[in-house]
Amino acid sequence: MKFIDIFSGLGGFHVGLKNNGHECVFSCEINEDLRDLYEINHGIRPHDDIRTVSESDVPAHDILCAGFPCQPFSLAGKKKGAKCPESGRLIDHVVRIADYHKPQFVLLENVPNVLTIENGTFWDYVRNSFERIGYRIDYRVISPVDLGIPQNRKRVFILGTRSDINAESFKWPSASDEGIVRVSLEEVLDNTLDHKKLESKKSDILALWQELLNGLNIATLCSVSIVAPEFGATYPENFSKLSLRELKHYKGAYGQSLEHCHTWAELLALMPSYVQKGKQIPQWMLKSIRFSRNLYQANENFCDQWAKKLSKINNSWQILEWRGAHVKHVIKDHIVQFRASGIRILKADIAPSLIAMTPTQIPIIPSESRYVSKHEAAKLQYLHTLKKLPEKNNAAFKALGNAVNAKIIELIGKNLIPVSL
Ligand SMILES: C[S@@+](CC[C@H](N)C(=O)[O-])C[C@H]1O[C@@H](n2cnc3c(N)ncnc32)[C@H](O)[C@@H]1O
Repeated sequence: MKFIDIFSGLGGFHVGLKNNGHECVFSCEINEDLRDLYEINHGIRPHDDIRTVSESDVPAHDILCAGFPCQPFSLAGKKKGAKCPESGRLIDHVVRIADYHKPQFVLLENVPNVLTIENGTFWDYVRNSFERIGYRIDYRVISPVDLGIPQNRKRVFILGTRSDINAESFKWPSASDEGIVRVSLEEVLDNTLDHKKLESKKSDILALWQELLNGLNIATLCSVSIVAPEFGATYPENFSKLSLRELKHYKGAYGQSLEHCHTWAELLALMPSYVQKGKQIPQWMLKSIRFSRNLYQANENFCDQWAKKLSKINNSWQILEWRGAHVKHVIKDHIVQFRASGIRILKADIAPSLIAMTPTQIPIIPSESRYVSKHEAAKLQYLHTLKKLPEKNNAAFKALGNAVNAKIIELIGKNLIPVSL
């Protein structure tokens, strides 16, 4: 079949469908560097802004693919619209082209959140727009790890089938399908390819946290965070209704006395950053904070000595988010991500989702003191066959984090067999 690739990026749809023998006849991408790369990798020059493409200039096709950008339904200027650079309803342009050409299938991909944002009104809008022009809509949330690729990355895949096409034979790919080849993360990792070394200050902070884990001898850490500012803290979980006088006898972050605070500004400066705004512990941190206070009570001296070595400059480095093995608390046997909420420790068998928004969350292999390389990330997106990736590491991770996983598209494409009713 012939397909088109709107918002084509690195070409995850292209790779996946071409692996099934389908042929790309048109693509479209606003970013010039990505257009250049697409031409090198796929031999086709993408058009630029979809909003300027006339539907009659798009060749006839059987499958329309679109990984539409993080889509603000709100008008530009409103909260979500302003956050997203591509304001306006880009999905309308996908519908416009589908309405003109009436391809047999429309295949869309996005974050699962697209189903629920704005109380589901955006999703209703997308579904209704395609139903109105004669498509039946079905969708599945699928992650590469379900289909043998060691990356956790839940995305929603939306299939529109023209109403005169019998799609009874179509099956979404799933973990139990025959022929799914499981690739381990070990097979993906290849430290001979160019990778960035881990900065020494990050290695140092990981070593310091390891020192704490070794010293505490915790029996099991189960999806909990160790929140260092709670070492010695006694302030109430919710102090929004208390007066300064009532708080005098409590201790703030790292056991700092609140006794001499005459103003709220003085008091809040001695509190952990996460309670400064609401004057209470956020609900989602309660379990970890109680755990950390208990840990401190059982190991007071050790924790106090340890906390003296901890630099207090970077708030997020004072929290260790343990999502790793329950019994073996060895950081270097895991994957690490420095996140805004804390240093996250993940099991070593599956990579976390590659994300486009920030290069600071590129996964780290602590045993090799390095970041995952762009070539390894390309393998996690099943885009390792591309001739060229963006030169700069940050641009490469941004594009890979935006891309659709080509293996999932390949497996969906394999089952797209048009049968006229
Ligand atoms: C979520 S990514 C899709 C990635 C793609 N499916 C892939 O596999 O790499 C969205 C892409 O749409 C592009 N884009 C944003 N606004 C656009 C517009 N108005 N016209 C064309 N492309 C646009 C972005 O530059 C980005 O590469």
